[in-house]
Amino acid sequence: MLFSPLSIGPVTLSNRIVISPMCQYSADDGSMNDWHLQHAMQMAMSGAGMFVVEATATERRGRITHHCVGLYSDQNENAMRRVLNAARSVATNDLKFAIQLGHAGRKASHHVPWQGGRALSKEEDAWITSAPSALPFTQGAPIPEALDADEMQNIKQNFVNAAKRAVRLGFSAIELHGAHGYLIHEFISPISNQREDEFGGSLDNRLKFPLEIFDEVRKVVPSDIALGLRLTGTDWRDDGLSVEDAKNVAKSFEAHGADYLCISSGGITTGLKIPVGPNYQVHLAKGIKDVVSIPVRAVGLITTAEQANDIILNGEADMVALARAFLANPRWGWDASVALQQPIEVPPQYERAYKVPQ
Ligand SMILES: Cc1cc2nc3c(=O)[nH]c(=O)nc-3n(C[C@H](O)[C@H](O)[C@H](O)COP(=O)(O)O)c2cc1C
Repeated sequence: MLFSPLSIGPVTLSNRIVISPMCQYSADDGSMNDWHLQHAMQMAMSGAGMFVVEATATERRGRITHHCVGLYSDQNENAMRRVLNAARSVATNDLKFAIQLGHAGRKASHHVPWQGGRALSKEEDAWITSAPSALPFTQGAPIPEALDADEMQNIKQNFVNAAKRAVRLGFSAIELHGAHGYLIHEFISPISNQREDEFGGSLDNRLKFPLEIFDEVRKVVPSDIALGLRLTGTDWRDDGLSVEDAKNVAKSFEAHGADYLCISSGGITTGLKIPVGPNYQVHLAKGIKDVVSIPVRAVGLITTAEQANDIILNGEADMVALARAFLANPRWGWDASVALQQPIEVPPQYERAYKVPQ
């Protein structure tokens, strides 16, 4: 099952293994460099059906850190083109390239994780973050500015501009980041959205701006490119988004033309009690899969071939995304093909090292 093809909207993946988006925190003013070149080239030969390029900021202040990738300038676009061209030149297995577009909202202006991940200080060129409400991510974190109507218009336009760049770059799929406590999720969750205007209050109201962003992006993404989202399956807090809310959110994006969904969770604030373990978010994906008819992707501590295969076999999700497993082993797909005795394309130069079934 894991190695059977899957159509996500207009795009057919050669298998159901997806490399989850992973920030590398290594860009220069949003532009990819040699780090991304080697990373993408490794992932291009991983045996996956789709590689999702890391969360890519639609504007400069939408970056989490000074070193996040962006698509807000010609330089960013050209640097990414160089990386993609190289990765495509060695890609096997009909790998499809996707990109995650996002805005960090109140979680912007932070250090990279390996420098502690704390909020930047003024001396460290911090910037003013923006969010639905002027509520900090966590106690002591910088207080964001609540977005006004003009700024929301700009945010939408920046998503559209970045999507146009992604289209020009030839991505097969574009994925909006609506999880992990970043801007789109911040609007949907009542924890971070306490607006009193038409964009706050009921779930329908909180969804209004995210759906507006989605609709505007949908208009500029041609029908041969898949447009999906990563969403949260729960906020893991009684006063946050519940699984039932997440189902309604998923149905709304499906009704607006989403081609697929990836269901993750967490990140809306600190101190969440999440029962992290193998498959810990799979039930969330299954819950969404039960109420939509577009393909659903599961993610979160899926590490072995058998485990991934079972998720598909049991009908819990249509595809799986793996993040850390691919960092640890960029040949994860080849190993899975051996483990499950399913054929996969391996570059002839490396064939003698791999007894993949033909
Ligand atoms: C280094 C690293 C960077 C990540 N960056 C992103 C990102 O850009 N966008 C995103 O949605 N999730 C990001 N995540 C979360 C992963 O995509 C994934 O959802 C999470 O790691 C759970 O999957 P895993 O158990 O297979 O690692 C990142 C995770 C890691 C380890």
